[in-house]
Amino acid sequence: MNAKSRLNGKRFVVGISGGIAAYKSVELVRMLRREGAEVQVLLTPDAHRFVTPLTLGTLSEREVLTEIFPANENGSWTKHVHLGLWADLMIVAPATANTLSKLVSGVCDSMLTAVALSARCPMLVCPAMDHDMYEHPSTQDNLETLRSRGTTVMDAPEGLLASGLTGKGRLPEPVDIVSTAAVILAYSTPRSSGPQVLVTAGPTRESLDPVRYITNRSSGTMGFELARAAQRLGYQVTLVAGPTALETPEGVARVDVETAREMHRVVMDNRNADVIIMAAAVADYEAGEVAGDKIKKGDGDLTLTLRRTPDILRELGTLRREDQVLIGFALETRDAEKGALNKLHGKNVDWIVLNNPTEAGAGFGPGTNKVTLFGRDGSVEPLPTMSKADVALAILGVALPDISREA
Ligand code: CTP
Repeated sequence: MNAKSRLNGKRFVVGISGGIAAYKSVELVRMLRREGAEVQVLLTPDAHRFVTPLTLGTLSEREVLTEIFPANENGSWTKHVHLGLWADLMIVAPATANTLSKLVSGVCDSMLTAVALSARCPMLVCPAMDHDMYEHPSTQDNLETLRSRGTTVMDAPEGLLASGLTGKGRLPEPVDIVSTAAVILAYSTPRSSGPQVLVTAGPTRESLDPVRYITNRSSGTMGFELARAAQRLGYQVTLVAGPTALETPEGVARVDVETAREMHRVVMDNRNADVIIMAAAVADYEAGEVAGDKIKKGDGDLTLTLRRTPDILRELGTLRREDQVLIGFALETRDAEKGALNKLHGKNVDWIVLNNPTEAGAGFGPGTNKVTLFGRDGSVEPLPTMSKADVALAILGVALPDISREA
């Protein structure tokens, strides 16, 4: 398997600290992107002296982050937590002596060091500095400590250094960093022993005849991101998916269904899960009778009789264990809060995630979403507009704080 296929779709946080070798990390970001990876760049304040956010933001196609509390703060200060969960691998290259010592002691004074502390993914550290700094017992001790904690540390190769001296302390070549990253990812196995989560996603499709059906505009993205996020948090995830073209998130068990009735059956078979998240847009109606042959047109109008499908979430709410967590979604375009609260209490669930597709930044398909969570305990948690991946992590963070910690 080459690095390309292994890195395709992988998510990297690349932390760059303030040393002359930072210029090589520009190439590192470019190479990761060329391999099909997503890259979030974090620059320490000093790294700005060597490389620009403009260059790195352009190459990564993501806003480069530096401060934990940026000047244009918009209520999303938990980004470091999200990024720590989002990434498959965090690379710190170059890691200066200063940043190394912060990584070891847990200092948290920039987005880079904060994400390093929150990261649940493996970490690859590539030190680069002057030879004597590199060989200093403090630095060597720090590198040893990181290794003992499971961080992969690449040795700094020998060569001509920025000081004009020759010795150890150079940043490994970006191509070697990429290869090491691919190896780490190949050997990092998903966790699979945590609590069980069942997530439903996507639309359902209700046949009218052998060629026609009723469905809705759900893409399934929100549910798939929830499944991906839960898996990253250490849950054992089963995803029940209606018809969608989305790829199964890594480490997630997937069961494909077509109709609301099929989804109902699969969910009921798995209703003992510790957490059930009904993100699917389940059809409320199916054809009263599915025609065996294609329905032929007549001269006049056609009236179809539709029949209610089982309300899966309501049934779960009736049968629920008290220690189980049930999360439902509400899609409302009018009297949104009232509708959400009706569903919260009417269906006896712990959380309703309110989604208004007519609001800016919310809606179907890939991209962003803007939701508000309503809790059984009366809490209301509006979340800012974020990517659906970030919304998924935030939903789990709000709705499952205790279980998240256990996992
Ligand atoms: N749901 C379900 N079974 C159904 C329909 C919906 O489990 N047959 C779940 C959805 O997955 C979602 C929540 O219930 O979590 C949505 O509730 P619903 O009452 O269907 O709300 P809307 O789809 O918004 O429809 P309406 O407002 O018309 O009630």
